[in-house]
Amino acid sequence: MASDIAVDYDGLIPNNVGLNQDPRLRRALESWHPSYLDWWKGRGPEGFQDHLVYLRTAVSVEPEGWAKFGYVRMPDYRWGILLAPPVADRAIGFGAHQGEPAWQEVPGEYRAMLRRLITVQGDTEPASVEQQRQLGATAPSLYDLRNLFQVNVEEARHLWAMVYLLQKYFGRDGREEAEDLLRRRSGDRDSPRLLGAFNEATPDWLAFFMFTFFTDRDGKMQLHALAQSGFDPLSRTCRFMLTEEAHHMFIGQSGIARVLERTCTAMREAGIDDPYDIDRVRPLGVIDLPTMQKRANLHFSLTLDLFGSEISSNAANAYNAGLKGRYLEDQIDDDHRLLDGTYPVIRLREGRIVREEVAALSALNMRLRDDYVADAASGIDRWWNRIIERAGFDFRLKLPHVAFNRHIGEFAPIETDPDGNLLSAAEWERRKSEFLPSAADNAFVASLMRPVYESGKFASWIAPPRTGIDSKPGDFEYVKLAD
Ligand SMILES: [Fe+2]
Ligand SMILES: [Fe+2]
Repeated sequence: MASDIAVDYDGLIPNNVGLNQDPRLRRALESWHPSYLDWWKGRGPEGFQDHLVYLRTAVSVEPEGWAKFGYVRMPDYRWGILLAPPVADRAIGFGAHQGEPAWQEVPGEYRAMLRRLITVQGDTEPASVEQQRQLGATAPSLYDLRNLFQVNVEEARHLWAMVYLLQKYFGRDGREEAEDLLRRRSGDRDSPRLLGAFNEATPDWLAFFMFTFFTDRDGKMQLHALAQSGFDPLSRTCRFMLTEEAHHMFIGQSGIARVLERTCTAMREAGIDDPYDIDRVRPLGVIDLPTMQKRANLHFSLTLDLFGSEISSNAANAYNAGLKGRYLEDQIDDDHRLLDGTYPVIRLREGRIVREEVAALSALNMRLRDDYVADAASGIDRWWNRIIERAGFDFRLKLPHVAFNRHIGEFAPIETDPDGNLLSAAEWERRKSEFLPSAADNAFVASLMRPVYESGKFASWIAPPRTGIDSKPGDFEYVKLAD
């Protein structure tokens, strides 16, 4: 292992950024630490702070063997600052500075833009922890309870990752932003989190799995775009965060797959052929497929809003400046300047949804969103629809149209059904419970949410996983509750 990326675990803050050689930064982070812990205890997972949880901790940034597993009380978790190894002679890959050496310090002319990008990304991390803080009370198993906490501690580590950049590179402004990241609060009326989807409630485990599938996947896309950044410390930070992000999406993807498996099995055993016969399905203690579709519609549409307006001068500026690239920018075969190319954007024109060629530089949000939609759609077919198909039901989950239930961008002013057919406001009101979860649907899901804390046991509505975490057996005690 190269010595400049070895992780130092001796101090208060594990890191591979040479914190010991930077006393000013170390003091700044150490003085932020107590407020962070207050935040974690007050707004992190409720009720399990003193229990031993079988968690993975990042101990290296090498692709092989970067994590170790062990029991830890969450407030004692070793949240660290970890950057992926530097790439020798890395050059800026796109925009007006293409080909220049990547920046190791903040370029003065882009300071405000860069700080904003880091702050917005940073704000989402503690937000999701806050959104999920009540879920431990209704965990469907110890396996799932542990997975929830794993996501929570890693999102909190992502907060550290962004706070490190703010404190190291942005002086007093950065310290203020770091404090604000602990001050804002998901769903708070006076001081909400910066982005809409991160102020929504995550009221039950179905919402948690949908969130980790759909909304953590937005995180993946954003991190990929920032991993391309010409500001090298941001690139390296995001590259390492992506390693953790994959597990969050796995939890969502496999969580929903297990719900579908359980529902399909129960319907088969009861001799139910019609997935829409929810009056017979629900008494089996499983979640009916139409409700699964409505929940997917909700989480997908809320997540699309995170990509911002389809046509965006902010996105163009960030690209031009070399701060935020496209998804897999370094694998795209074009000029990486986008000064004269176009990109097709779906827009609203005189009350109709049309496709229009737009200057590629202005359409970067749209492009990232398209990449996201393709990624989510392939996941749904590969992981979810296969289960329904194998069980022999004439039902497929699918993504709603991108114009459906939107609050930001081209389609904010209109309503459509999930196929993208325009609806009047009155029709929308009358029919929206066909497309989005109704109060009754949510009450049904809530009625199933009772905790199962016995090792190896699972709630009625979810199948056990195929394999355990860290190859542990099915009855492994992932969270020790009897301490
Ligand atoms: Fe994250
Ligand atoms: Fe995540």
